[in-house]
Amino acid sequence: MKRVQDFKLKSYRRLNRENYILTLQGDYLEKDMHPGNFAEIQVPGLPEVFLRRPISILDFDPAKKTISFYIKAIGKGTRQLGRLAEGDTVNIVYPLGNSFSVPRKGKVLIVGGGSGIAPFVLLGRALQQQGVETTFLIGGRTRNDIFLTEEFSRYGTVLVTTEDGSRGEKGLVTGHSLFAGSMNFDRIYTCGPDPMMKAVARLAGQRGIDCEASLENLMACGIGACLCCVTPSPGGNRVVCTEGPVFNTKVLGW
Ligand SMILES: Cc1cc2nc3c(=O)[nH]c(=O)nc-3n(C[C@H](O)[C@H](O)[C@H](O)COP(=O)(O)OP(=O)(O)OC[C@H]3O[C@@H](n4cnc5c(N)ncnc54)[C@H](O)[C@@H]3O)c2cc1C
Ligand code: FES
Repeated sequence: MKRVQDFKLKSYRRLNRENYILTLQGDYLEKDMHPGNFAEIQVPGLPEVFLRRPISILDFDPAKKTISFYIKAIGKGTRQLGRLAEGDTVNIVYPLGNSFSVPRKGKVLIVGGGSGIAPFVLLGRALQQQGVETTFLIGGRTRNDIFLTEEFSRYGTVLVTTEDGSRGEKGLVTGHSLFAGSMNFDRIYTCGPDPMMKAVARLAGQRGIDCEASLENLMACGIGACLCCVTPSPGGNRVVCTEGPVFNTKVLGW
């Protein structure tokens, strides 16, 4: 059930200057959360940032009543969230949006870049629980842009590409040698910059593999009221915050 709730900031895990994991703790934690769900986080202490910011749920712990988020600081809101003090109150609306489908068996590929890696910890765990064989392919500009690989390695094989070749194969994720051969994945999941997701969807389509993409469109209300998050599709505009953020890429016409 969707909740509006105050949490206390429990801890930060700084990954580098611009990337961090924010963990919040509450008196109560909604447990009905699924891979791909997100929260609308209010940004305290900065009146000009009055709209909540949509951030994927990275992980949660029902026993400790904690929920965590991986945040890439790119603007006013995401930088301010990284400047709060432990014990500060943070109000969030959660869980929002739909979720990735989790098959009961098979072999899947997850392709992530930028802040789009965030939903894949919960997805990797859910897939492992179903006995699905998972390969993670994570891309970044340099090795300093690659995060969470230790977490992903608990749930599957991890492959990396960097544009400068400082870690993994050199190039973009879609240039990884994995895509050169015949691929026997049952499904591909992707989240990250739009051009990356569209290229992944194209490669999946050429091979007849089902593909699900989680869109990171700009959002305001997060509950289907303002229509600022819509994305075009052959079947008409889709409201990403309520119909998504996860879509089968065929629905999007990608
Ligand atoms: C469903 C969903 C899940 C998301 N999950 C995560 C996550 O787990 N971790 C994370 O770090 N980020 C995530 N994002 C992106 C995050 O919401 C934005 O980075 C954030 O809202 C930017 O707020 P800001 O105040 O820091 O930037 P602003 O100051 O508002 O903007 C700074 C600049 O970034 C651009 N910008 C803002 N939002 C986006 C966006 N969504 N896509 C592309 N450019 C943008 C603006 O146009 C502007 O140029 C997610 C977005 C969606 C829709
Ligand atoms: S963010 Fe307002 S309708 Fe989606």
